[in-house]
Amino acid sequence: MNPEAFVLAQTAIARPALVPEVPLYLATEVTPIWQATEDWLGEQGIEPPFWAFAWPGSQALARWILDTPSRVAGRRVLDFAAGGGLAAIAAARAGAASVEAAEIDPLAHAATRLNARLNGVTVLEAPGDVVGSAKRWDTVLAGDVCYEAPMTQHIMPWLRRLAASGAEVILADPGRAYVPREGMEPLARFQVPVARELEDREEREVILYRVTA
Ligand SMILES: C[S@@+](CC[C@H](N)C(=O)[O-])C[C@H]1O[C@@H](n2cnc3c(N)ncnc32)[C@H](O)[C@@H]1O
Repeated sequence: MNPEAFVLAQTAIARPALVPEVPLYLATEVTPIWQATEDWLGEQGIEPPFWAFAWPGSQALARWILDTPSRVAGRRVLDFAAGGGLAAIAAARAGAASVEAAEIDPLAHAATRLNARLNGVTVLEAPGDVVGSAKRWDTVLAGDVCYEAPMTQHIMPWLRRLAASGAEVILADPGRAYVPREGMEPLARFQVPVARELEDREEREVILYRVTA
């Protein structure tokens, strides 16, 4: 079974609570799809299948973009750590000049391809690991990327360099432990309904920050 067929077999079309106008291929429970992914890959101890859920970060980014399309219209946009590509799809729908999705999980790219097709938009796959790349985007979206210390330490210096080079870097944080306190300018707040199985609560507040150099 190829990656797209696997995603289709493990998910169903559903609408994220905060962005019901963007249907996506989503899972409802984490354990069965995590187990199925390990079986399909023939590997144990893999990262969770992040791509199968619309995390609160990308829901807030997508809501913000669709409510104010001028934020991204005509701009070159990167959805960094895109998961299933919700923020990328919102940017494409809002009239971005180009949209790339960056991921390290090949199944996330497969999910993003399917989700983009479902929404009738074009999202390009950023090749390889983009962390450290020179600026080639006007706007960089980063939804829910500060949930682990090593990842945060790996990506934040690069996001700040992009901001120093003139990119607008928007980080959407649902209250994760490692989000930096300095050099973050709050732009907007959203209350996002979440699944208790994933978040151990019914709702999370997401703050959209502009990352400064
Ligand atoms: C919590 S998910 C958030 C997905 C999406 N942005 C959202 O808010 O729905 C974090 C994602 O970061 C991706 N990721 C982790 N390290 C990465 C890296 N160095 N480059 C690109 N993606 C990365 C993971 O594969 C995962 O899909």
